[in-house]
Amino acid sequence: MYLLNKHIVLGISGGIAAYKTPELVRLFIKEGAQVQVVMTQAATHFVTPTTLQAVSGNPVFISQWDDRIPNGMAHIELSRKADAVVIAPASADLMAKHSLGLADDLLSTLLIARGCEEQGSILPCPLLMVPAMNLQMWQHVATQRSVARLKADGVIILGPASGPQACGEVGAGRMLEPEEILEGLCAFFQPKTLLGKRVVVTAGPTYEAIDPVRGLTNKSSGKMGFAIAKAALEAGASVHLIAGPVHLPTPLEFTGMIRRTDVLSAADMANAVESAKDCDIFFSVAAVADWKIINPSSQKIKKSDSLSPTLEFALNPDILARMAANSAQRPFCVGFAAETQHVSEFGQAKRIAKNVPLLIANHGPDTFGQDHNQVSLIDASGVYPLQQMDKLRLAREIIAQVVQRLPA
Ligand SMILES: Cc1cc2nc3c(=O)[nH]c(=O)nc-3n(C[C@H](O)[C@H](O)[C@H](O)COP(=O)(O)O)c2cc1C
Repeated sequence: MYLLNKHIVLGISGGIAAYKTPELVRLFIKEGAQVQVVMTQAATHFVTPTTLQAVSGNPVFISQWDDRIPNGMAHIELSRKADAVVIAPASADLMAKHSLGLADDLLSTLLIARGCEEQGSILPCPLLMVPAMNLQMWQHVATQRSVARLKADGVIILGPASGPQACGEVGAGRMLEPEEILEGLCAFFQPKTLLGKRVVVTAGPTYEAIDPVRGLTNKSSGKMGFAIAKAALEAGASVHLIAGPVHLPTPLEFTGMIRRTDVLSAADMANAVESAKDCDIFFSVAAVADWKIINPSSQKIKKSDSLSPTLEFALNPDILARMAANSAQRPFCVGFAAETQHVSEFGQAKRIAKNVPLLIANHGPDTFGQDHNQVSLIDASGVYPLQQMDKLRLAREIIAQVVQRLPA
């Protein structure tokens, strides 16, 4: 559960995307959060307070004259226990109002009165807004002015996405999907230990062609590499993800902080890494084929009862060793190894052979395609086994371990 013990105030304003908010509440709660919904009057035209009360398990507040709060000051009390206020959808109207500090209903007043109580003091309560509106409304100079002011005031703006809109027009202004908003909120809560760092991650298997329809590959799903890319983004880095053939969506794509290059063979991956080598940290997570087939056939090899084809192999470039041997400003390199036996010895030997400060050794091949993993961290001082955990949690732990080891 990624939002365990978090108190979230979810503000809903009057946009058509409000119909997606019961699902958003459900996702927040599934991750362990407690959700307090506050709606504008306009929002109640798009989704009912009864639905939101039922899914959140808490009374929904709309009016600032509501006397269900003992001191009658819902605009102050409702955010005092909050870890964050999320506005989804954020209407053009509400963003404009908050950028000017206007406060003429419960939600807009709560936004300028917001603050979390901690050890007797009131601390600023983070605010995330998820805009949703028609393309022309989004592009309007007044809306863009509001967005610029809100950002300057420290408000985090998630999205919007582009695509078909409820009004029939197509373009920027769609609300992010509930799963993306959840990811954005979870990312927000992660420590920003890699702000300003450029990270390159390789992920997935590679594919070596035998002929135009056949090839050699391996069981890597790319999940661990994609989790590392996501955890690095959550920590504030910009990420270049170089992926072999996998079927995974680009993590946190809506942040605009990730670039993805898809490749097929080990040689393609080596070329892509070569052109991305100007980075601070390099994670070599991909299961790169050690060998390629010499002279793959340009035509499909015909099946014959009497003759089996003979394949000849040549070594592929060692991408990690190359990066680690790079010039004076080489990045901090992290290797991954999947060993089926003698994990510690083979892992330590591999780390030394590749000349990398940190190697992550998977305990056996069972991790391929799974959502969890068990690894040992291997550095010059020894071997440190970690507990089995899901790949995103593990990726966050690995990022934390890397941050501790980065040169000052
Ligand atoms: C059918 C319909 C759909 C609307 N959809 C949006 C929308 O997606 N985004 C938006 O900013 N405004 C939308 N509006 C306009 C807002 O509801 C209107 O500006 C309202 O005053 C917003 O109030 P609030 O900011 O207090 O919630 C829509 C209006 C109607 C009638």
